[in-house]
Amino acid sequence: MSRTRVGVLISGRGSNLQTLLDAQATGQAPFEIALVLSNDPAAGGLDRALRAGVETAIVDHKPFGKNRAAFEDAMHAALTEHAIEFVALAGFMRVLTPGFVARWAGRMINIHPSLLPSFPGLHTHARALEAGVKLHGCTVHWVSDGVDEGAIIGQAAVPVKPGDTPDTLAARVLRAEHQLFPMCLALAVQGRSAQVRGFGPRDDAPLLLNGWLADAP
Ligand code: GAR
Repeated sequence: MSRTRVGVLISGRGSNLQTLLDAQATGQAPFEIALVLSNDPAAGGLDRALRAGVETAIVDHKPFGKNRAAFEDAMHAALTEHAIEFVALAGFMRVLTPGFVARWAGRMINIHPSLLPSFPGLHTHARALEAGVKLHGCTVHWVSDGVDEGAIIGQAAVPVKPGDTPDTLAARVLRAEHQLFPMCLALAVQGRSAQVRGFGPRDDAPLLLNGWLADAP
């Protein structure tokens, strides 16, 4: 099986990255994590990559100040140097400029902790609780110019339970993220326009998956 060389961009602990590394370790995934790139030198996800024997790169955004294009040029250079074909944003917390998005159009996906188009941006779990929604979840989508606005590849929903705090809800959503992300990355690198099978309703597990692979922009 030919495997697409994926660069994973992270900013933090990298639990979603870990699910991609675990999927790769099964030998069944149509992707190979060929580079993990962090904008934060202290990101915990870098250790996960090292443990898995995956190459890492650090492009710290801070020295670039407001020059986002130069920061992104440095990231692009690292991705190119490692012959990366596809980019997965896994908790990458910098907003990308239209220039970088255009370079990776149709080859870059993101995971977001809400059922988009609800709750784009930050603090999604607190905002979902404030809004009183009964279902919350996560979305994997193509990256477009608008933040958290690209075509949806797949979504997984979880119940909001009485007494939930942002932390308990975040933990439930994160478990759904870990199921959704490897599945959607596998579909996306294959360019498949397939319906993803739904998860069964189980306690504390995603109870709904709305997964049609949207066409790449
Ligand atoms: C995840 O919940 C991911 O959905 C979110 O950051 C977390 C990263 O966790 N991403 C965003 O909020 C992007 N806007 P992880 O580092 O353990 O994968």
